Amino acid sequence: MLKLGILISGNGSNLQAIIDAIAAGDLDARIEVVISNKPNAYGLERARAAGIRAVCIKPSSFTVAEEPTHSYNEALRRILVDADVDWVVMAGYMKLLGPEVLNAFPNHVINLHPALLPKFPGAHAIEEAFAAGVPTTGVTVHIANERFDDGPILAQTEVPINPDDTLEALEARIHAAEHQLLPQTLAELCSTR
Ligand code: GRF
Repeated sequence: MLKLGILISGNGSNLQAIIDAIAAGDLDARIEVVISNKPNAYGLERARAAGIRAVCIKPSSFTVAEEPTHSYNEALRRILVDADVDWVVMAGYMKLLGPEVLNAFPNHVINLHPALLPKFPGAHAIEEAFAAGVPTTGVTVHIANERFDDGPILAQTEVPINPDDTLEALEARIHAAEHQLLPQTLAELCSTR
């Protein structure tokens, strides 16, 4: 059984997809802790409703430290190491993860991105693909590294952009694809690593 630490920053619909996949018996894993950098992240509520330990670590709590970013990432590392997780999953975590965490879980941190990397990296991937008028975009799950939306790709799925699409329709289609791809990729990790 894989022990997971999930990092979030917002709604947590991908966290919910993992929770649901575990409950349905489609993913042999246990979520040991959910950590958010935003106190109002709805994903924290989702974790608590599922009986999962939910923690908020605010970067602003470390501004008095000599090296705030290092202290913040060190706090993340400590919680994840103490929780004894096997994999760290960035499910809508909108910050760069520091080497403190990456080095504690070498090649065992994965990130979810709502585009077909290396196309459309960054925080506005869906909007940019929509504006670019490309016929197809998609979703990527990859091993995270010290750069945003970079690292070896584990899985991708294509999502068509239809001529009459609104941005909202495309976003809904992409999130539905994410909710399939992330749990499925984690399930494959269960059986291969
Ligand atoms: C997802 O689209 C993810 O790919 C991106 O942020 C969004 C998070 O959604 N990084 P949620 O918080 O899981 O609902």
